[in-house]
Amino acid sequence: MFMKKILLLVAFLPFCLNAQNIKLPAPVREGGKPLMEALNHRCSLRSFVGKELSPQMLSNLLWAAFGYNRADKRTAPSALNKQSIEIYVATPHGIYLYAPKQNELQLKVKGDYRKQTGMQPFVGTAYMELIYISKTIPVNTEMLYADCGFIAQNVYLFCASEKLGTVVRGSVPKEELVKILGLSNKNQILLCQTVGYNKN
Ligand SMILES: Cc1cc2nc3c(=O)[nH]c(=O)nc-3n(C[C@H](O)[C@H](O)[C@H](O)COP(=O)(O)O)c2cc1C
Repeated sequence: MFMKKILLLVAFLPFCLNAQNIKLPAPVREGGKPLMEALNHRCSLRSFVGKELSPQMLSNLLWAAFGYNRADKRTAPSALNKQSIEIYVATPHGIYLYAPKQNELQLKVKGDYRKQTGMQPFVGTAYMELIYISKTIPVNTEMLYADCGFIAQNVYLFCASEKLGTVVRGSVPKEELVKILGLSNKNQILLCQTVGYNKN
């Protein structure tokens, strides 16, 4: 029992310590609900409890969203294979950039900015808010939003499979977020997506 507690502590320590960069465990690329069942459960939810997602759950979710499933290609398609969308993750500890090759979260801003990613009352009540940001000036904004939709749908299906709640949001205070993240004019904030455990 004591050893089990120590092992649990060691596993969660990097996460709890709120290190600059959080190394995630390797994503588990199998299991989950069958596709048709996940599709049957896919929905938007707006009622959350703030319970933390385990590092393994976080790793699996981000990999499902837009990780590498081949040497240089990803779980979501992108127009002209530009792969220009990056996922920022706002948690109670800070806003991190998901680095899929390194499989780590890189701290960009310390502090809890979850509420600042939206205008609706439920925003900030879930453990995390994903922020989808383009890292280059888009040639075609429509294509960029299409790319973003695929990533968001991957997250929807992962959440349906893992009994997590999620809702993608176009209602985002972009100017405020640009300032918080210190983004350049090359970057474009596209959508946000709330992810967490359901209230019910
Ligand atoms: C591009 C896009 C933007 C959205 N923006 C918001 C939003 O700002 N706030 C919100 O609560 N839901 C938002 N939604 C979620 C939709 O309201 C939701 O998908 C729709 O009501 C259908 O419900 P369902 O997802 O459960 O099928 C958005 C969905 C999409 C696809």
